[in-house]
Amino acid sequence: MRRHLLALQQLDAAEITRLLDLAQRVLGGPPRSEALRDHAIATLFYEPSTRTEISFELASARLGATAVRCDVTRSSIQKGESLVDTVQTLEALGAQAIVIRHPSAGAPHLASRWVRCAIINAGDGMHEHPTQGLLDLLTVRQHRGRIAGLNVAIVGDVLHSRVARSAVWGFTALGAHVTLVGPPTLLPAWPSADDRFPRAPQVTMTSSLAKGLEHADVVMALRMQRERQEHGYVPSLGEYTGRYAITSSALATARPDVLLLHPGPMNLGVEVSADAAYGPQSGIHAQVTNGVAVRMAVLLWALGDADTPDRGAARRDAPNELPVRDHAVAEIVRTVG
Ligand code: NCD
Repeated sequence: MRRHLLALQQLDAAEITRLLDLAQRVLGGPPRSEALRDHAIATLFYEPSTRTEISFELASARLGATAVRCDVTRSSIQKGESLVDTVQTLEALGAQAIVIRHPSAGAPHLASRWVRCAIINAGDGMHEHPTQGLLDLLTVRQHRGRIAGLNVAIVGDVLHSRVARSAVWGFTALGAHVTLVGPPTLLPAWPSADDRFPRAPQVTMTSSLAKGLEHADVVMALRMQRERQEHGYVPSLGEYTGRYAITSSALATARPDVLLLHPGPMNLGVEVSADAAYGPQSGIHAQVTNGVAVRMAVLLWALGDADTPDRGAARRDAPNELPVRDHAVAEIVRTVG
């Protein structure tokens, strides 16, 4: 069985919780397993990345799979090959999963219609970044023990942020309240305007940082996307920083045990100050570490084989755990559990 991970919007609370539980178990387990031995995972990144791409590669290695990087700058994409041709080629070469980052929203969805292998969205335009959303949730759950009932403030360039979109879906699915904070030009219309958005009451927006932080248990600072700022969304980066930067004194206005998150890469001194980013309330380093475990969990989830004989045995091994649907998950539950 192959499953695509295209968006957190598509997962319900139970499925998200299962993935988080599996990632947590992986973290407590041995550094390496053979759960995905003989599997090839291709990474196909049309945009730069450090932590996301490397963590998928490390996650593959830790599961015994081979990760192959398709270098967009040196591949046939430079000769005009289409996305569909490229993913079909990677599949024909033997990839069981393709991890895609693309500047266009919907690119992984398109790819998923043309291949049988699993497609995992590693960030598509301004749409979603589901594995980032999962690692944000895992980091908060580790620090606070729960997600339900928490107030999460997402601060900055929400308009352009796929990280924010996945976070909104993930946190609201698990019962948190989200406040989007930023200058009016960088706040989206979607929570109120989109009638497909079923959890709108759990999302509010404000342009006042003081209001946004007032009851916050979690503050997520977003990167100011300099590549998109030439359109005059803010008068200047300096003005943005003066009003919205997350500093340790800004954090002091939130709940006393507030947790600071940032997806990286950070513009230190722009949207977040060094004293906050490296201070005691920061979970930013933990987010990066959790990225490997989350991506291991997602690969196991995506590459399950529902009909393997291991299935029943695995269920008996871990009766109250994941609904074990495949030998890969079964293997990791056995090894880690
Ligand atoms: C983000 C991305 O590329 O979506 N980074 C990440 O994956 N951790 C955020 C960003 O670029 O601002």
